[in-house]
Amino acid sequence: MKKTTLTLAGSLIALSASVSASYADKLTFYCSAQEEWCQVMARGFEDATGIDVNMTRKSSGETFAQIRAEAVNPKGDVWWGGTGDPHLQAAEEGLTEEYLSPMRDQLHDWAISQAESAGNRTIGIYSGALGYGYNTDLLAANNLPEPSCWKDLLKPEYKQHVQMANPNSSGTAYTTLASIIQIFGEDEGFEFMKGLHANINQYTKSGSAPIKAAGRGESTIGIVFMHDAVAQAVAGFPIKVVAPCEGTGYEIGSMSIVKGARNMDEAKQFYDWALSVDAQNLALEVNAFQVPSNKGAKTSDKAPDMASIKLIDYDFVKYGSSDERKRLLQKWDEDVSVLPQ
Ligand code: F6P
Repeated sequence: MKKTTLTLAGSLIALSASVSASYADKLTFYCSAQEEWCQVMARGFEDATGIDVNMTRKSSGETFAQIRAEAVNPKGDVWWGGTGDPHLQAAEEGLTEEYLSPMRDQLHDWAISQAESAGNRTIGIYSGALGYGYNTDLLAANNLPEPSCWKDLLKPEYKQHVQMANPNSSGTAYTTLASIIQIFGEDEGFEFMKGLHANINQYTKSGSAPIKAAGRGESTIGIVFMHDAVAQAVAGFPIKVVAPCEGTGYEIGSMSIVKGARNMDEAKQFYDWALSVDAQNLALEVNAFQVPSNKGAKTSDKAPDMASIKLIDYDFVKYGSSDERKRLLQKWDEDVSVLPQ
């Protein structure tokens, strides 16, 4: 009898240990970079730590909206990737957790300044310049001129040939809107967006979809981050990448820990690991051509050369602020997206 009781007690202890292990050793990972990179980061972290990862990929604006909707009962632990602006907005709205990683001294200044401008509730993980790409076969087949500037995209002959994402869901498209306003000023910038609207064949949910469509020959020009256009060219599609002549904006792809994360220790472990050279070098395995934030990580020799692109002094603080992002998106919804095409 005594033996049975002891055995039962032992089994209960073992059971409760295994239950708590299964609760402790997992991570819910919200990812807003490209799907293949998200997958390799999830598997890489599992291999490095033995922690089970449940990953969901959604665009930057969509993930931001999800984290906000879940704020009273957070389901995600860490948000990795996606443009910096919604990460900054999440920080300002208190949706993400302050964290000082021991890896910080390995990072470029631009990654740290992103963190400092948000009270260390986010941090830079990669950067990349905005631009566009076009399908050279389709351009020739339609007898269209080669575009090289932003303003070229307003030409009436490009009607139905240009695709971009919706800035509400996509960080790429919000970066486009904010960059155009910074290049041309707000009034002229919105006139530009209206003129562009007349040539748009579809607003997609995800930022990179327009250049994938161009790669497949379903659309001619896609406004995207240049690294996403390079990825299509490297995959063998007839895509030419353009750094617009007027200059262009760029992103600081970012990472944040969800406030009140259920798996806070694992989220911090992921955060530190994601800033390491080994984790950032995983980008090379999936043709991700962003510039990594760890100074020791490798940038692909096929990545767009940031030094040779005319970059604007993108105001991340202003365009990542909650009021400004909401105001610009509402103005785009009301003044641009409703116009007839
Ligand atoms: O495809 C990769 C990428 O361009 C990242 O560099 C960027 O942070 C992210 O996608 C933005 O995606 P979305 O526009 O869908 O929010």
